[in-house]
Amino acid sequence: MPKLGVNIDHVATLRQARGTVYPSVQDAAACCERAGAAGITVHLREDRRHIQDADVYALQKALSIPLNLEMAVAEEIVRIALDVCPVEVCLVPEKRAELTTEGGLDAAGTLATLGPVVARLRDAGIIVSLFIDPDEAQIDAALAVGAPVVELHTGCFCDTQGDAAEEELARLIQAAKYGARHGLRINAGHGINMGNIAEVMRVPHLDTLNIGHSIIARAVFVGLEAAVEEMRVAIESVT
Ligand code: PXP
Repeated sequence: MPKLGVNIDHVATLRQARGTVYPSVQDAAACCERAGAAGITVHLREDRRHIQDADVYALQKALSIPLNLEMAVAEEIVRIALDVCPVEVCLVPEKRAELTTEGGLDAAGTLATLGPVVARLRDAGIIVSLFIDPDEAQIDAALAVGAPVVELHTGCFCDTQGDAAEEELARLIQAAKYGARHGLRINAGHGINMGNIAEVMRVPHLDTLNIGHSIIARAVFVGLEAAVEEMRVAIESVT
């Protein structure tokens, strides 16, 4: 049964929209924890559009469930990660103009820069995950740089329908099997909501599903604790 990791970036989006001190990301994380989330994810973007440095430090101090820090392979952020020492980091590609992370990390094309960063994070005792497209070459690259975890990008699957969606799901299933066979822990995330969670659950070997936007959006109507609970129950009820 996959665990639910909740991405609370968009609680900070709401706060940053007005430059207020509310809503508190720490209170949001506590709600998620009470509702049975297994971990909290935040993405400290280079442009600091939502999560701020102080949020990351405060969460790492306050949380009793693991903090997963999403981050670009950028020296400034790597140094913060090494200082904060979250349980896990997930390395993602980042573009200034994007609305959200658009594709997976090109691990295969950036082995030389990625390898030393993964090594530094691992030496600090941090579990390193790579956010990649469901592609065997990218999984081979994760193995080559010594990342023990991959997060498969479910965005293409979640954004398509019909035959195209079936093809994307088949790619995810194949990548998960390939990665697990080679000893990697398999996470998945991006674009997952209550309407597609049952299909995503067809992917084998899932350790953790990282879900953000749809849960925060649902929380507007039912509250954050209930929204997290709904998703957790949806995951648990797929057999
Ligand atoms: N996983 C990664 C690596 C991401 O970049 C994101 C988006 O920040 C998510 C999961 C969560 O995606 P969503 O907000 O679409 O649920």
